[in-house]
Amino acid sequence: MNFYCLECNLKLSNSDITKVKCPCKKVNIKPHINYQKNIIKLTKNIFNYKNKTQKFIHGKTVIPLSIPTFSYQEAIESFQSIASTYLVYGDKVKKFEKMFANYSNVKHSTLVTSGSTANSLALAALTDHSLKRRINPGDEIIAPALTFATSVYPILDIGAVPVLVDIDLETLNIDEKQIEKAITKKTKAIMPVHLLGNPCKIDVIKKIAKKHNLFLIHHIPSFFFS
Ligand SMILES: Cc1ncc(COP(=O)(O)O)c(C=O)c1O
Repeated sequence: MNFYCLECNLKLSNSDITKVKCPCKKVNIKPHINYQKNIIKLTKNIFNYKNKTQKFIHGKTVIPLSIPTFSYQEAIESFQSIASTYLVYGDKVKKFEKMFANYSNVKHSTLVTSGSTANSLALAALTDHSLKRRINPGDEIIAPALTFATSVYPILDIGAVPVLVDIDLETLNIDEKQIEKAITKKTKAIMPVHLLGNPCKIDVIKKIAKKHNLFLIHHIPSFFFS
């Protein structure tokens, strides 16, 4: 865990922590470290309590559809970001982008504020005038009929037309067998959603996109690692 000087917001190194004064020389950092240690201890207590009272029993515990869960480490990390006052594009974001790109075996990764923003950014990038083949107003983009509203709003935002394809009732994902029927001369992209942790039949969808020269935009808000 990192500790910060609450006066100058400097991240303290291991050797800084053993000294009395922060390298900024303004203050005694001992109380600052103690405040932060107390917060870590209290946060751990809260999460221990939750873990004790909310035991997961395999095959019995119902996993809620839409309640986020956090570990105490995440709660402490977010507190530390606040203590450091670095709430925007800081070290943690850069580190996460690198780890995410490595894990996904891709060259680049850009962290955004939400799944909805990721869709908006991906689609906006594909309207760029430097692209030979880009998405223009009036072009069609194939999306599943069952998804979250912000799978579709970003399509409308760039002036494109969402074409909704029905879902497979087993997986609740887009029915890949119906995609080709929805492709017209105006289709520019397929935007499947891997819904609720169930991966789509992406190999099949990839082949369809390649055959028809379409962009393939994965929407994976609840899918990563599944
Ligand atoms: C399929 C799908 N798309 C988009 C979102 C929105 O994600 P965010 O709240 O991160 O914008 C959700 C959220 O539940 C979702 O399930």
